[in-house]
Amino acid sequence: MANQILVLTVLAMTCTLVIAFEPSPLQDFCVADTTSSVPRVNGLPCLDSKLAQADHFFFGGLHLAGNTSNPLGVKITSVNVAQIPGLNTLGISLARIDYAPWGVTPPHTHPRATEILTVLEGRVAVGFVTSNPDNKLISKVLNKGDVFVFPVGLVHYQQNVGNGTAVSLSSLSSQNPGVITIANSVFGANPSISDDVLSKAFQVDKSIISNLQAKF
Ligand SMILES: *[C@@H]1O[C@H](CO)[C@@H](O)[C@H](O)[C@H]1NC(C)=O
Ligand SMILES: *[C@@H]1O[C@H](CO)[C@@H](O)[C@H](O)[C@H]1NC(C)=O
Repeated sequence: MANQILVLTVLAMTCTLVIAFEPSPLQDFCVADTTSSVPRVNGLPCLDSKLAQADHFFFGGLHLAGNTSNPLGVKITSVNVAQIPGLNTLGISLARIDYAPWGVTPPHTHPRATEILTVLEGRVAVGFVTSNPDNKLISKVLNKGDVFVFPVGLVHYQQNVGNGTAVSLSSLSSQNPGVITIANSVFGANPSISDDVLSKAFQVDKSIISNLQAKF
């Protein structure tokens, strides 16, 4: 009997399946302040819950088309914790994307969110690239009513591949998904990443790097 209990105890201790995920950070980084007495928060401090009102959980106007008169031909209207304070700590947000004909959302990633996109109007080509070493492009052309998922952190893009305007609505699994646009990060960093680093990284002449840096 004692042996059986011992065996069961050892089994219970060694056969526990752990399915875990790190808590999602809600800011790019958090330099520790070891002297502060302020409680640690991930996100924004909380309003006294007695003061909460409907407007803290509300955003109006997402039916309005964004102005796509810009070089990319795309306008993103974000609805995250910056627009709806009630989203703080809830791990969810929205974005409306308006596309001019052939407009492009350039390759970018959301460091803190998976995105699920629904096409409301038009025809939109989408894709994401898996991480190293495969770098496999997973892409598809979507029509009205089609839904596509961009897994957290992976580089992805969208393009209106129709002659009319297009509209999509994305849900994102963070109150503050963050956006890293690859070209802006790499060629538009301030101060600049050294052209020696970039010319080696991209295996091109430094003049091509300066040309690209000038555009961002
Ligand atoms: C759209 O944006 C362009 C460029 O900023 C501007 O010239 C134009 O007036 C805007 N259109 C509307 C309807 O706001
Ligand atoms: C866009 O318009 C061009 C020229 O009229 C036509 O050839 C093409 O098939 C159209 N493309 C789509 C996706 O409707």
